[in-house]
Amino acid sequence: MIKNIRILPGTNKDGIKENFSYIDFNIGELYTIVGNTGSGKSRLIKDLEQLVNKDSVTGRTVLIDGKAPSFDVRGETSKHLIAHLGQNMRFVLDKTVGEFLLLHGKCRGIETPDISAIIQVANEITPEAISETMNLNTLSGGQTRALMIADISCICNSPIVLIDEIENAGIDKTKALHLLLDSNKLVLIVTHDLHTALMSEQRIIMENGGVKTIVNRTREEKTLFEELNRAYQSRLKLQNSMRKGESLA
Ligand SMILES: Nc1ncnc2c1ncn2[C@@H]1O[C@H](COP(=O)(O)OP(=O)(O)OP(=O)(O)O)[C@@H](O)[C@H]1O
Ligand SMILES: [Mg+2]
Repeated sequence: MIKNIRILPGTNKDGIKENFSYIDFNIGELYTIVGNTGSGKSRLIKDLEQLVNKDSVTGRTVLIDGKAPSFDVRGETSKHLIAHLGQNMRFVLDKTVGEFLLLHGKCRGIETPDISAIIQVANEITPEAISETMNLNTLSGGQTRALMIADISCICNSPIVLIDEIENAGIDKTKALHLLLDSNKLVLIVTHDLHTALMSEQRIIMENGGVKTIVNRTREEKTLFEELNRAYQSRLKLQNSMRKGESLA
């Protein structure tokens, strides 16, 4: 079981070395990555997914428990350790939700995954319910993400989960993140959203392709987070009423 991944610095878009000696990410923790559009957030998590060793555009290195995995095992190691929910995802499989979960369970050595339990988990985070017989191609963006998150938390045993933007999909991000963290995973999430950014104790600030700084959440920020969280919950409720056509005020 791995415990930690570490990033060693590379260069920003101007070729200037990033100003940190290393960044450690520990299993069981949530980290957020923020920064302007184009600042290199997605690239940072792709570096992690690919377990780069000075061979991406950034020149960063990724170590697992202190070691750089050798080139020939990187693909396998990444598949085994890391689940990545990209910014744009679509299924290309012509299968139903049930068939997909069964297939994926088998790939991961689970002969009879509890399909209805997994779908129930997905339906806790998406208001528009998914069913076992739906074709994957007909799922919406939010439903797809909800299914992937349920799949990651119930079937995948990958200890590391990378998520590129969770809030645009109309799913309950708080529940989704709790689901993942409860299963003792390292979760890194790219976000443009203040509330999501404050969920983590450490947030990485990106600028011009490089890590600008790493900010530790203060006690006052934690209080601010709790306020934002209350606002988020009441907003979710209102959103649900809005979608049902109910009166809002
Ligand atoms: N250190 C770097 N050196 C060179 N190019 C980089 C570096 N970091 C990122 N890039 C490139 O810059 C472009 C934008 O980066 P990226 O897609 O990661 O931005 P982003 O922060 O995810 O933006 P958005 O919020 O719009 O999704 C990409 O083509 C990426 O490959
Ligand atoms: Mg991006």
